[in-house]
Amino acid sequence: MRTTTSLPGRKRRPRQKSDGAGDLNLARRQPAATPNNGETLDPQDWTALRAQGHRMLDDMLDYLERIRERPVWQPIPEAVRRRLEQPLPRHPTDLGSVHETFMNSVLPYALGNTHPGFMGWVHGGGTAVGMLAEMLAAGLNANLGGRDQAPVVMERQVLSWMRELFGFPAGASGLFVTGTSMANFVAVLVARTGALGQKVRAHGIAASEIRLRAYASAATHSSLARAMDLAGIGTDALRIIGVDDRHEMDVGALEAAIEQDRGAGFMPFFIAATAGTVDVGAIDKLDVLADVARREHLWFHVDGAYGALGMLAADIAPRLAGIEHADSIAFDFHKWGQVPYDAGFVLVRDGKLHYDTFATPAPYLGRGHRGMAAGSPWPCDFGPDLSRGFRALKTWFTISVYGADQLGQTISRCCERARYLARRIEAEPELELLSPVSLNIVCFRYNASDEVNADIVADLQESGVAAPSTTKLRGRLAIRAAIVNHRTAEQDMDALIDATIRFGRNKNPQSGRHHDE
Ligand SMILES: Cc1ncc(COP(=O)(O)O)c(C=O)c1O
Repeated sequence: MRTTTSLPGRKRRPRQKSDGAGDLNLARRQPAATPNNGETLDPQDWTALRAQGHRMLDDMLDYLERIRERPVWQPIPEAVRRRLEQPLPRHPTDLGSVHETFMNSVLPYALGNTHPGFMGWVHGGGTAVGMLAEMLAAGLNANLGGRDQAPVVMERQVLSWMRELFGFPAGASGLFVTGTSMANFVAVLVARTGALGQKVRAHGIAASEIRLRAYASAATHSSLARAMDLAGIGTDALRIIGVDDRHEMDVGALEAAIEQDRGAGFMPFFIAATAGTVDVGAIDKLDVLADVARREHLWFHVDGAYGALGMLAADIAPRLAGIEHADSIAFDFHKWGQVPYDAGFVLVRDGKLHYDTFATPAPYLGRGHRGMAAGSPWPCDFGPDLSRGFRALKTWFTISVYGADQLGQTISRCCERARYLARRIEAEPELELLSPVSLNIVCFRYNASDEVNADIVADLQESGVAAPSTTKLRGRLAIRAAIVNHRTAEQDMDALIDATIRFGRNKNPQSGRHHDE
């Protein structure tokens, strides 16, 4: 992808042939950076530390610049595993040597989601800009629990951009969290407070006579059930609604379930729609579900882990119509927003209810009109965490440097790649497309047993050529490619197809064993 920024120039090192392991082991045999001055943990020799720091930065820029030359993933050799399992170090080790361990034993054996050939699960690719912002955040060592500081103002700025993007009112609140799993949990807790009143925070769910019911489709991510569990409402209170042949929630079945539950004495309180299901990328009918929620006086939540940021893409935003009526939206900047991990976000329409769900006054967290204690409410009043990192900075940098439109175009391009992949699959008699391609996820299989398909996926991953994951669709194992990374190109789709067919042909469909590899 072309960036609108240019990274600081430097003398380029001669390229080395990539063997995938330790090939970025550059300039490590430089004079040692002295550990510290004995009194504090600051270095004795800042010049040496600066030189070592520049080498570390250069190595990571080299890694990103040359990512395509590496295998997507490779198994961790036993010797490397053992090298990483050391007893607690009691004495100092030179920073250069620790960095060397990272370069040789960690970097080559990471999952590889920065690589254009990575297509497993739903992992974002990150950017060099996000990495640099993360370095600045770490240097500042800001704690965003609260207090009057510019980092908190920046988190509020990102919140304000998200209000604008999703058409939420000025009173809407929002918070950075680890990921959508946590964002879903926060949303369930706020909706619970809305249903049972603030007293539930003191008395707990068990003290209430009311039996809550939530609704989500069979395609909903497992984090929704876990959120119900963590909230103490229980997974039994999450009623799973069937899906149609496009994997979208069956609205008629939802309405029938709500009616049936009311008749049986339950209190329906929460509908969780999904914008971009994890298996196939389906988008529930958000506008229709918003109407049902309004009519039935239920909380309308949208799990938009990756799909919600489709609002940035001109061709996808219209398909998310209705999201502006949500009571809460959970999504991740670290997926389609290309922000480095982690950067989840929860947006809540009713900021007062959100505050009332979490705010917990304490004398040592007193607020004031001036000094550092000003600026209440603080982020810690809207979620479970008090100590919080500066996730807002890498997000603010990413959105500022690339601009919302370019990020949206990246999302559109991922979907184009997915459609290209689907066309290639349909043209190959040995392959079968298992689901229509709604967004960026393609599920298919080689014409053989589940075991052979699982083996093909392991072969693909171990070959380092392409890294899809698997799922089950209607009881059959699917090879699943999710195009989330801005670096992924048509050539990566071609490599996936060619290698799938090659590995498939090399197997005995009966036994799933290799013939002649
Ligand atoms: C639809 C959906 N919801 C929730 C999640 C969980 O998000 P996270 O991994 O950021 O917690 C995912 C992850 O892929 C997802 O696809």
